Amino acid sequence: MTHIPKAEYSRRRKALMAQMEPNSIAILPAAAVAIRNRDVEHVYRQDSDFQYLSGFTEPQAVIVLMPGREHGEYVLFCRERNAERELWDGLRAGQEGAIRDYGADDAFPITDIDDILPGLIEGRDRVYSAMGSNPEFDRHLMDWINVIRSKAHLGAQPPNEFVALDHLLHDMRLYKSAAEVKVMREAARISAQAHIRAMQASRAGLHEYSLEAELDYEFRKGGAKMPAYGSIVAAGRNSCILHYQQNDALLKDGDLVLIDAGCEIDCYASDITRTWPVNGKFSAEQKAIYELVLASQEAAFAEIAPNKNWNQAHEATVRVITTGLVKLGILQGEVDELIANEAYKAFYMHRAGHWLGMDVHDVGEYKVGGEWRVLEVGMALTVEPGIYIAPDNQNVAKKWRGIGVRIEDDVVVTKSGCEILTSGVPKTVAEIEALMAQARTHAA
Ligand code: GLY
Ligand code: MN
Ligand code: MN
Repeated sequence: MTHIPKAEYSRRRKALMAQMEPNSIAILPAAAVAIRNRDVEHVYRQDSDFQYLSGFTEPQAVIVLMPGREHGEYVLFCRERNAERELWDGLRAGQEGAIRDYGADDAFPITDIDDILPGLIEGRDRVYSAMGSNPEFDRHLMDWINVIRSKAHLGAQPPNEFVALDHLLHDMRLYKSAAEVKVMREAARISAQAHIRAMQASRAGLHEYSLEAELDYEFRKGGAKMPAYGSIVAAGRNSCILHYQQNDALLKDGDLVLIDAGCEIDCYASDITRTWPVNGKFSAEQKAIYELVLASQEAAFAEIAPNKNWNQAHEATVRVITTGLVKLGILQGEVDELIANEAYKAFYMHRAGHWLGMDVHDVGEYKVGGEWRVLEVGMALTVEPGIYIAPDNQNVAKKWRGIGVRIEDDVVVTKSGCEILTSGVPKTVAEIEALMAQARTHAA
């Protein structure tokens, strides 16, 4: 399976430390284990920042980075080996493994952190941490600082500055390396296969969860541990609910089904939406809306390239969709005016995309100094226009109501434009109908 190579984690730590102020320290906790009920835990997923800098997938761990420290810049606190616990819960790296396999210069048991960490912080001017995102850890950090303060009369020097780590780290995460793009391609390939499988399985009389099962099958078969977010399988009018997750309704003849689902590989997300007719054949109205969304997506791709700004792709989708809705008689008026007064938002109420990476809605600023960010090589984003005609919208002809269409692909900015990572799933009306017709012939 495709993984981020070990050497890349080391490069990332060095790159972060090179940007930290002299005589500073960065401290990052692993994600906490979340309890599902009593002694049952949710599937563990490492914190993305923690994973980005370490590749260490265990809970109860803390990364400490101290640029310029003679006795080692990278210290990892983690669980000790424990034969009894490992028999029940699985292997642990332990301190030896942290050094041998994860490149730590030094490693200590997590149970010793209260005794050791204040000594590492002491004498440093600045502490970098993800302030505010983990209140329990913030409290621990202040406890460690107070230990140092309580020894001030003995000459101990507590740090004076506390800096949010996010700005530096999240900007690094925004630019994907070749290795990251490779992993994202793999996640995209598996997710594309999952959408194809769901299209092939689509039949009236099944339920939304029947198609979710087809997705899950391909995700796991491809080696993905879990979806990157809760899969949306929305049939009929449910397609107009943007974050629908109930996934338990019946698939009906004549309805569309919208699936927004993608898996995660080595903590990198993919995020694909396709919309198709349950019975394999678009009606005239479904096709008209679908082709309009598709045209708007094509217009957006043309606006993704270095030196274009983040908003241009969105603006392109708004123009195509508004113009098309006027042509279909769903909106009435002058296109420029309908754009200026945001009339299109009754049908297209979200943005054309978001950054994509370790988090499905990935980190990174969308504006810099009040201006839309200029796209650069290596930035990864989704392109996902949609049109949703509410089932109870009395302002449009009945034949349009309840139609919801979104088409979503993942792209990486390249020197000359963008690479579409998710092009493995059929997308035109003809391609989708052909795939579904073929699946029916084979099943018959
Ligand atoms: N799946 C969430 C999104 O498309 O943004
Ligand atoms: Mn999505
Ligand atoms: Mn998305």
